[in-house]
Amino acid sequence: MTKVLFVCLGNICRSPLAEAIFNAQCHERGLVNLSSDSAGTASYHLGEQPDLRSIQVAQNHNIPIDHKARQFKSSDYENFDYVIALDQNNYNDIIQVTGSKHKNLFLLRKFDSESNGDTDVPDPYYGGIDGFQNIYIMMSRCIHHLLNHIDQ
Ligand code: 4NP
Repeated sequence: MTKVLFVCLGNICRSPLAEAIFNAQCHERGLVNLSSDSAGTASYHLGEQPDLRSIQVAQNHNIPIDHKARQFKSSDYENFDYVIALDQNNYNDIIQVTGSKHKNLFLLRKFDSESNGDTDVPDPYYGGIDGFQNIYIMMSRCIHHLLNHIDQ
């Protein structure tokens, strides 16, 4: 089993949606030997369901989303084959928690075919539903390429 962890700040908007997209794309491709989870670098929302706007966007695309927010911890680094940071701040915070850069730590947008050098999946928390729709498209594209990378 190859295990992938998506990490954002609050673990209620971006990373649980990334986890849901990853699981849906694995299901579509018939990949049964991959699993995913998500976590946040902050502790603001521990135990909470995903943001209603992430749930709405997932439902619009008919993909299941089910997660309770938890905080990233250093043992995650050893327990996951890929730790995927949603933005550069998350990436830096992961290195702060663990004290070093693990070889399996990546930015999600490293896998984006249309990044134009951008490193971040923008934080949609303080915006409207359109921001969530935009990151759904961006993350779907990145995860498609991430799966090509893992499943080669
Ligand atoms: P996320 O979004 O990191 O994509 O889950 C956020 C959620 C909550 C907060 C910030 C970003 N917050 O400040 O509470």
